[in-house]
Amino acid sequence: MCGIVGYIGKQNAIPISLDGLKRLEYRGYDSAGMALFDSQKNKIICVKVAGKVDSLEERFRNSNIFSNCAIAHTRWATHGIPSIKNAHPHNDCKKNIYLVHNGIIENYKFLKEKLKEEGHKFYSDTDTEILAHLIEKFFSGNLEEAVVQALKLVKGTYGLAVISKNDPGKIVAARNSSPLLIGLGRDEFIIASDPSAVVSYTKKVVYLEDGEVAVITPEDFSITNLRQRKIIRPHVNLKWDFEEATKAGFPHFMLKEIFEIPETIQNSTRGRLIFDEGLAKLGGLELVLDELRGISRMVICACGTAYLASLAGEYMIEEYAGLPTEVEYASEFRYRKPILNQNTAFLAVSQSGETADTLAALREAKRKGILSLGVVNTVGSSVARETDAGVYNHAGPEIGVASTKAFVSQLTVFALFALLLGRQRQLSSVMGQRIAKEISALPEKVKEILKLNSQIRNLAKKYRDYNHFLYLGRKYNYPIALEGALKLKEISYIHAEGYGAGEMKHGPIALIDKNFPTFAIALSDSVYEKMFSNIMEIKAREGRVIVLATNGNNEIKKMVDDVIYVPKTLEMLSPILAVVPLQLFAYHIGVLRGCDIDKPRNLAKSVTVE
Ligand code: G6P
Repeated sequence: MCGIVGYIGKQNAIPISLDGLKRLEYRGYDSAGMALFDSQKNKIICVKVAGKVDSLEERFRNSNIFSNCAIAHTRWATHGIPSIKNAHPHNDCKKNIYLVHNGIIENYKFLKEKLKEEGHKFYSDTDTEILAHLIEKFFSGNLEEAVVQALKLVKGTYGLAVISKNDPGKIVAARNSSPLLIGLGRDEFIIASDPSAVVSYTKKVVYLEDGEVAVITPEDFSITNLRQRKIIRPHVNLKWDFEEATKAGFPHFMLKEIFEIPETIQNSTRGRLIFDEGLAKLGGLELVLDELRGISRMVICACGTAYLASLAGEYMIEEYAGLPTEVEYASEFRYRKPILNQNTAFLAVSQSGETADTLAALREAKRKGILSLGVVNTVGSSVARETDAGVYNHAGPEIGVASTKAFVSQLTVFALFALLLGRQRQLSSVMGQRIAKEISALPEKVKEILKLNSQIRNLAKKYRDYNHFLYLGRKYNYPIALEGALKLKEISYIHAEGYGAGEMKHGPIALIDKNFPTFAIALSDSVYEKMFSNIMEIKAREGRVIVLATNGNNEIKKMVDDVIYVPKTLEMLSPILAVVPLQLFAYHIGVLRGCDIDKPRNLAKSVTVE
């Protein structure tokens, strides 16, 4: 999704801004651009491309322009097709003001009509461009004052960075529901929509809050709110390591991140299990433990992969804590009438902590005055800041657009959360100890599965040319069937459907023939017999079947086309192991089909518009 970078200071802003944009590429985008002060000629130059940041870089290849102030952007099209004219930065009529924007201006049509009547000329089809004209309308020498005036008329979401030829030497930035931070250097500042763009320059950052405007000069920065009251906010130190954001020798971030899963589970559980007592200790929930003891229902909202992790979490919490739990797409929750009472807790699950729908659902729940919790990976993100309490995944930065290690960390945190809630209720210490012990054994078991990488690659070679796939699972592995199908379609563009195996006879079975293979998760658990019958029903219709089975199940090998074996664990934890071969399978098929693994077409890492 869209990304913002800006630089002001003594160095050349051009390479720094390009480098920042490259670090935001993983978010997904379709065009890029930069506006910069040419320090020698005292004018603003704007360069835009409909394509990759590499093409933008190419445009500066042989130039000797020096600029100490630039704003740059990667655009993911919402209003208007991907094209040079719709790429950011956008400008006013006289080309004095340039800005980059993340988010959506909801009342742009109305404002555009009014501005047109007043004589403004528009160049693009975007909602963003009206901001440049509104700022032009209010500009009388001071850029921040014009920005504040303009934003008062705007309905919608924004992360914004603006420069003006007639008020040079500063960047004005503003935020409403779209993240923006200022990276602090010595006599230089980088602004960005995502910490990964600044982390190689500085670890000291200040996050802007909704409704705030910042003025950044080479020497200093100041923050005010829209009522122009000054805000003093100390910086935070980013914990991210630059190394963590590189590929470390793997051909793709996705593969690297799958291979990081054992370490991710360790990071998500470190210091959080008390083995002797069979307890989970989650620091971020300490202050609300009494409230959690009192709740009688939990509503979980999430999107995409986080939603699927939450489905498995629901089963864990209901089975081990006996707490009625519902999972809902955040995009549905926010628009229907949810029934929430004071004994309900709301839980937002989000890797980025910035997904627009999840954030809106959280705000809706907060409006109802109920306890709001988060399971979030990105420290300091909006969901993390706006919830009453929560748990960080500690998965580290995930760069591949398709979530892998973050998904596993969400499942792991759900296991810890179920243990915590369970031990507050009826779960025995003996069962608690068993769960804790099994959780701690997971990293080694995932390492066993990762040794199957070349076997799974061979399997991918065998199945690479099929154009359809069915994924089946039951109970805890029903969400994993959905996730397996989601990964395959995201990464390889193969049509894949995930189903609860019990539903197979209610439709999908009509599709089965020798050209429509099935990936069935049939572990040796409480639903194995049922899965086995479903697999036989597919075989009886000439369907090819790959089965994910538990080590030692020799029976299944004779009945199906291919088998991948995984180690045994507790049924509630089995999704954590089961998903890994499915991620590898999707990865290898995607590679074999020549797909853009880390940046699949049309997808974005963080969906910050609804
Ligand atoms: C996008 C990403 C998915 C992710 C979903 C929710 O669709 O491509 O990988 O699961 O957003 O994102 P979140 O950051 O809220 O977990």
